[in-house]
Amino acid sequence: MSCRENNGNYIKCEPFAPEYILGLESSCDETSVAILRGGQEILANLVSSQIPLHAKYGGVVPEVACRAHMEVINPLIEEALEQSGLKLSDLNAVAVTCGPGLVGAVLLGVACAKTLAGCLDIPLIGVNHMEGHLFSALLETPDLPMPMVCLLVSGGHTMIIKADNPGEYTVLGSTRDDAAGEAFDKVSKALGLGYPGGPKIQALAEKGSREAIKFARPMLNEGFDFSFSGLKTAVLLHLNSPERGSDADICASFQEAVVDVLSTKVLRAVRRCQAKSLALAGGVAANKALRERLADGAKRLGITFTCPQLELCTDNAVMIAKAAWELAREGWRSPLSLDAKPNLELV
Ligand code: KG4
Ligand code: ZN
Repeated sequence: MSCRENNGNYIKCEPFAPEYILGLESSCDETSVAILRGGQEILANLVSSQIPLHAKYGGVVPEVACRAHMEVINPLIEEALEQSGLKLSDLNAVAVTCGPGLVGAVLLGVACAKTLAGCLDIPLIGVNHMEGHLFSALLETPDLPMPMVCLLVSGGHTMIIKADNPGEYTVLGSTRDDAAGEAFDKVSKALGLGYPGGPKIQALAEKGSREAIKFARPMLNEGFDFSFSGLKTAVLLHLNSPERGSDADICASFQEAVVDVLSTKVLRAVRRCQAKSLALAGGVAANKALRERLADGAKRLGITFTCPQLELCTDNAVMIAKAAWELAREGWRSPLSLDAKPNLELV
């Protein structure tokens, strides 16, 4: 059954193909506005990052995030239209992240999208942020063979999903504590490398040895769930050990442990489900070692592998517009009563 049924976020309609979709994403610390043409051509993709605003706190401060979204969202919409050579009246649908995320931040995007859809009298399409990440992989490889297994790894989520078709998902596993991205961020903070941690750890890891320290691989042989909190604690404890080694070695060894756990489990899921394709998406999908490991694993299994281009791994509105395009094609739109759902689940 489609995850859109019996869900207050959607109403059934005739399938439609909106030529120009405006996408809005404001669920965390990035305000992004995009315009997608024909479901595939990116006319504009603007991302205003709040990283400098949050960096001094070592993480995202919800009130600061919400205020910053409010300040930039309208100018970004104007700029996206200008870049695309379009007027507001040219738009055929408005897509917006309706959850999960920080409540005030999601609410702001939803209110903005509802106003535009109402005033322009065009369809509103609410998108689950995690489904947006999933669809960003489809921009690269539009006709992915199904069933597909997807590893969704971001700052807030770590999930292995099986998709029999777009919208028909089974969650095979998820994290029991910290998300993979969160573990990168926390280890980075402890090493004084700053936020967001993923890119900083990846850069330093390139100068170190991934075999230097044997960090545990939590729950490696147990089902499809993850636990990254134990690994994070092991790294933090190691920082005080007399055989600490270099920060580069710590980063390389930590990254190797994360990549090992993620890849072992998702490739096992691919085999178990006899999936025909493997997708990697979410902010952590920008990690070079992880991309390489999964590409290699998929090649060995003889299945298609896809992941978004680097700039579409972290939060962006292109993926929201892309997901909305697919929803429209399936005949779904959202009512103007669409609400922000901070804890929205994928299934
Ligand atoms: O999807 P995303 O932009 O935001 C959420 O939905 O959470 O993911 C952000 C996460 C952060 O935890 C960040 O450290 C991680 O993605 N990340 C990376 C890399 N680039 C971003 N993790 C590992 N390696 C990277 N290159
Ligand atoms: Zn995200």
